[in-house]
Amino acid sequence: MILRLSLLLILLLIIVPQSIQGSIFKTFSNTLSPKYPPYSFVFPLSGNVFPLGYYSVSLQIGNPPKDFTFDVDTGSDLTWVQCDAPCSGCTVRTELQYKPKSNTVPCSDSICSALHWPQKPECLNPKEQCDYEVEYADQGSSMGALVVDQFSLKLLDGSSFVPRLAFGCGYDQHFPSAHLPPATVGVLGLEKGKISILTQLVSARLTRNVFGHCLSSKGGGYLFFGDNVIPSTGVSWTTLVSPNNHYTTGPAELLYNGKATGLNGLKLIFDSGSTYTYFNRKTYQAIVNLIGNNLKGKPVKDVKDDKTLAICWKGAKPLKSVLEVKNLFKTLTINFKNGRTNSQLQIPPESYLIVSKTGNVCLGILNGSEVGLQDSNVIGDISMQGVMVIYDNEKQQLGWVSADCDKLPK
Ligand SMILES: *[C@@H]1O[C@H](CO)[C@@H](O)[C@H](O)[C@H]1NC(C)=O
Repeated sequence: MILRLSLLLILLLIIVPQSIQGSIFKTFSNTLSPKYPPYSFVFPLSGNVFPLGYYSVSLQIGNPPKDFTFDVDTGSDLTWVQCDAPCSGCTVRTELQYKPKSNTVPCSDSICSALHWPQKPECLNPKEQCDYEVEYADQGSSMGALVVDQFSLKLLDGSSFVPRLAFGCGYDQHFPSAHLPPATVGVLGLEKGKISILTQLVSARLTRNVFGHCLSSKGGGYLFFGDNVIPSTGVSWTTLVSPNNHYTTGPAELLYNGKATGLNGLKLIFDSGSTYTYFNRKTYQAIVNLIGNNLKGKPVKDVKDDKTLAICWKGAKPLKSVLEVKNLFKTLTINFKNGRTNSQLQIPPESYLIVSKTGNVCLGILNGSEVGLQDSNVIGDISMQGVMVIYDNEKQQLGWVSADCDKLPK
């Protein structure tokens, strides 16, 4: 392990140029445009909750620009791409990987300190590459070095910008079997740390520190940076509470079928990198009981032989869509108390159920304790379908509004 790592480091060091100096932030001065208001960028998404389990965005990097697909993750900071440095544990062919060309970020650069904050990067020689390692909740990890390259970002009016941004060149990945979807080459990290691509664009004054996504239940949808596409009315908001870089909301109470459940004080992390929604042990147990009791006497039965998710039910005949059994289930509501006012996020059955390949309906709310989430609750893709979710880092608030995610905003 150590041997392989040092071998890769040596290979990478060979391609490190002696000429990279100073801060990459300097390069932003080319793209600063104080004359204009900050811009908004809209990116189409692909993917779905089931069977793919992720939503991805395609971004163009380099000159000439090359397409890379990223898993959109509001639960981590660092954007990284599988990298031919060469690579160990990459899931895509070499031709699809990013090829670094003498563009590693030196460890003395301020962006390297931002990446490692609150710790300091190890940096004995200021020209050494800036190493990173990220670990995900599902035990996956990526290790590599920061590089800087130009991104081609299109505006709504078709004009484009080519800011130089720092991201990870991941040459050593470890993922538990089904994690990193083979179709995505990397992860677009959208948490609020300084290393995030959005924060870098905000530092360059290209956009506001606001972004959001609209995940369609038919698959696809869009991601946006900036605030131009946010509707001026109808958005519900709640405060972001920030013990760390996660987008955490709450405390909130949970209602089932519009009625109190006694489940209160919930903190919820909005994480587009999570396919399903997770609740802590006690809340999960309560939800399973509520749903189970509600199904008594209804034409669905528990099935044990469908391993798609922990809990599945069989209908009278195999199902094609959740909509066929939607009326047998009830809406969950997350009620946020913001001082005197409340705001409610509705989670209708189609936002917590999936139909498995064998035509059973399965519960897309999972037991967080089983995956080591301790006491946090995670709102995943399944429960964010059909709504525009807005992460506003300027006002420290999170918003949502029903939207047609199939139509790109104009
Ligand atoms: C949730 O997971 C924990 C830890 O594995 C387990 O003890 C508990 O019984 C599970 N709850 C349910 C309802 O399955």
